[in-house]
Amino acid sequence: MTPLLELRGLVRRYGGIVATDHLDLAVADGETHAIIGPNGAGKTTLIQQISGGLSPDEGSIVFNGQDITALSMNARVGLGLARSYQITNIFRQCTVLDNLALAVQARHGSSMRFWRAAVDESALFDEARALAARIGLDQRLDALAGSLAHGEQRLLEVGVALATQPRMLLLDEPMAGMGPKESRSLMPLIQSLGRELTVLLVEHDMETVFQLADRISVLVAGRVIATGTPDEIRRNAEVRKAYLGDEVSA
Ligand SMILES: Nc1ncnc2c1ncn2[C@@H]1O[C@H](COP(=O)(O)OP(=O)(O)O)[C@@H](O)[C@H]1O
Ligand SMILES: [Mg+2]
Repeated sequence: MTPLLELRGLVRRYGGIVATDHLDLAVADGETHAIIGPNGAGKTTLIQQISGGLSPDEGSIVFNGQDITALSMNARVGLGLARSYQITNIFRQCTVLDNLALAVQARHGSSMRFWRAAVDESALFDEARALAARIGLDQRLDALAGSLAHGEQRLLEVGVALATQPRMLLLDEPMAGMGPKESRSLMPLIQSLGRELTVLLVEHDMETVFQLADRISVLVAGRVIATGTPDEIRRNAEVRKAYLGDEVSA
């Protein structure tokens, strides 16, 4: 296995609480890797350290062979590590299409003067439309982002993250706050993203996790207690005892 992302001895404390406790994790290139664990296990703290929103107290983060522990969030995005949800900027007063076009433009940076030419502006919007189709919002191009349903906003956030052309996408509970219908529409998107990119997914809904993930890591009290295929995790006695209980039948 070639790890695309490798975490070594990651520690993050909040006062007396050790939210991430000498955590080791390797995410293989191309896989959809899910992180599960009880509330307070440290899942969000972990994702924030990977994305660069939070610095670890100890340990290192290696992405694509490069130590990124000290890099800013933007630098990580530039290397192909994108995070959707909670950090993404959606302009509520702009349309879906404009939000995606702005995100595509941001990837090219303000130094790329050629975007000013009309012909290239149309290329920009072509890419934005393709992204809208990718996330299933192609019928909502002219809707203001602020007027979108909750689930549609989540999709747009994924679209904005995809505009950076990531190699790896971090998703922290993408289905939180979604109704059953919205969740069902997100499943196939995550599934198809998983065929193209490496996905690290934190998700509460076990049915989703066991269906989507190639491998699952179980986080308990800031440590990974097990990593394996859905079948291996389902059958793991320690996992069942610590977390899954009767939630998943063997
Ligand atoms: N900003 C913070 N300040 C203090 N404690 C925090 C903060 N964020 C998280 N924690 C604590 O760190 C632990 C891990 O939290 P979190 O990463 O949010 O877990 P999860 O996402 O798995 O529910 C919990 O005990 C939580 O109370
Ligand atoms: Mg969380």
